[in-house]
Amino acid sequence: MDNQVIQTLKQRVNIVDVVGRYVALRPASGRHMGLCPFHQEKTASFSVNEVEGFYYCFGCQAGGDVLDFYMRINGLEFKDALRQLAEEAGIELNEFRPDPEYDERQKLKRQCLEMHEQAQEYYRRNLNQVTGDAARSYLRKRGTSPEISAAFGLGASPDDWHGLLNHLVSRGFSPEQGVLAGLLSKNDKGNIYDRFRGRLIFPIQNLSGQVIAFGGRIITEGEPKYLNSSDTPIYKKGEHLYGLHQARQAMTRSKRAILTEGYMDVLSLAQFGYADSCGVLGTALTQEQVKRLSGFCSRIDLIFDGDGAGRKAALRSAEMILHQGVACRVLLMPDGEDVDSLLHKQGREGLDACFEKAADGLDYCLDTIRENFAPREIVAWATGFLGQLSDNALRAYYLPRLADGLGLSEMDLRRQGGSQSGGSYASGAGRQNVRHEAGNNVQPSGRTRRPVGSDDANDRKFIEFSIQYPDYIPHLAKRGLGNVLSTDWGRHMWQRLSLQRFEEVANGLGEEDARLWRDALEKHPQLTGDELADHWASLCTWIEKQHKDVRRRELMHRLAELSMAGDVSEVKKVQMAIQALNAPSREEE
Ligand code: UTP
Ligand code: MN
Repeated sequence: MDNQVIQTLKQRVNIVDVVGRYVALRPASGRHMGLCPFHQEKTASFSVNEVEGFYYCFGCQAGGDVLDFYMRINGLEFKDALRQLAEEAGIELNEFRPDPEYDERQKLKRQCLEMHEQAQEYYRRNLNQVTGDAARSYLRKRGTSPEISAAFGLGASPDDWHGLLNHLVSRGFSPEQGVLAGLLSKNDKGNIYDRFRGRLIFPIQNLSGQVIAFGGRIITEGEPKYLNSSDTPIYKKGEHLYGLHQARQAMTRSKRAILTEGYMDVLSLAQFGYADSCGVLGTALTQEQVKRLSGFCSRIDLIFDGDGAGRKAALRSAEMILHQGVACRVLLMPDGEDVDSLLHKQGREGLDACFEKAADGLDYCLDTIRENFAPREIVAWATGFLGQLSDNALRAYYLPRLADGLGLSEMDLRRQGGSQSGGSYASGAGRQNVRHEAGNNVQPSGRTRRPVGSDDANDRKFIEFSIQYPDYIPHLAKRGLGNVLSTDWGRHMWQRLSLQRFEEVANGLGEEDARLWRDALEKHPQLTGDELADHWASLCTWIEKQHKDVRRRELMHRLAELSMAGDVSEVKKVQMAIQALNAPSREEE
């Protein structure tokens, strides 16, 4: 798909020019270096290889070609990046094959966003008019300040079956479009009417502040108490958090997120100065939500009711958070209170007292399990917990803590489920993918690091081959070997081999490298003909696979970013791209 176009584009745009517009680059021995725009750093570990057309960050391991870079730095999808970059480079893309389905989807999403913007305006305006009297006095009664109401863009839907409908139609949208956007409802008879009526309206925003859904609380009487948007092309339940847009900056500063269950709780927390708060939005906490939060903070403080249901939900949520390697604490509310009521009755003092009594998340899980589970269940829980972890380092961290906290033998636990090898407990859908990625040394968090050990041997293999068959050095360079070596030593050696004259390198080696050089020549296998061709082919395959891994890591990163930004359909696309990338390489293996 569009392969020809991509190749043409890559040939014609210079990656250093493109990257240079965003990052101050300085030339350094055959490449350009700068501060990585994708992670915080003080010393430059971001490198751009002009010849190979690659960028790579040695700090966060982000890497890819010029298109990847452009896509990522501008937060664009693949096709849009391709179009824009081509435009900038003055390349005519008449070779573009049109993709009507994609265009249609984009159009639909744009329309939904526009309709939500219109609806938001409509609800907001209503709150300040006569039709919003009830909602305004309700807010007053609940003690919500005008500042908070404005900051969260609260509104009111009048008690009217066709208010928003008429508004949308006046703005050029059809009733059917309003139904698609989840703003209007359609009954069996085919009649279309406002979904939210007589409610206080809470707009739900994505990370960039666009309104993508609404929640509405009944003001007088009626069911349900809260009505939420259903899934639409721009909103999927369980993927967003209420108030995250407002809280994200505070979270990045405090490195903590307060997570609560209710809309009003979020408002009150913000009003009382807990700016790093958000809400789960009427469902049980989901993996996506935890992942999204983990991008902003290193600890999540969970607030739950102190009753049985609350405790159970707290356990499940804490487990999920710990699985992602994020710390958490559990705050249980006193009987009959929620955060909102507690804050209005006792102020910060009341809530801070609860914070002081908060349990560490892991301790909370272990205590709950130990006190409520039978021995058999305890063991199962512990192995299950460890099995959920896709990261060996995390497993190593939790193993002794679980053993200690549950009174189990560390050795037994390790044997039962402490190692990655088994895999029998990672059974749910989606785990498969994670396991496959883990096999490629990719952690699903997107923060990727290659383990040392085998990589070292691989780098050595290529360096030795280069010493033995120097004729092949330019070919290795063309295939981008420099970008797939994983040790500093390997990259350093390769740089010299590919840039300096052979003799020059040989004469300028340190003691250890000189020994390696001699050894390589001494045990030179002197391959020729088919044997050499086969060996060369296997080296090329390996390099290609590494490039794919880089691409895969890049996609994983992108996946993480997209899921943070809440771009549902793009997430699916990237997942498919990763699958496509995985498929052939699995066959090769
Ligand atoms: P609660 O019933 O605990 O209400 O629901 P609350 O948040 O304290 O609301 P107030 O203070 O009475 O106004 C907690 C959360 O569960 C979701 C909402 O997100 C709500 O804030 N919920 C609740 C629904 O989605 N639908 C409902 O009918 C009820
Ligand atoms: Mn409440």
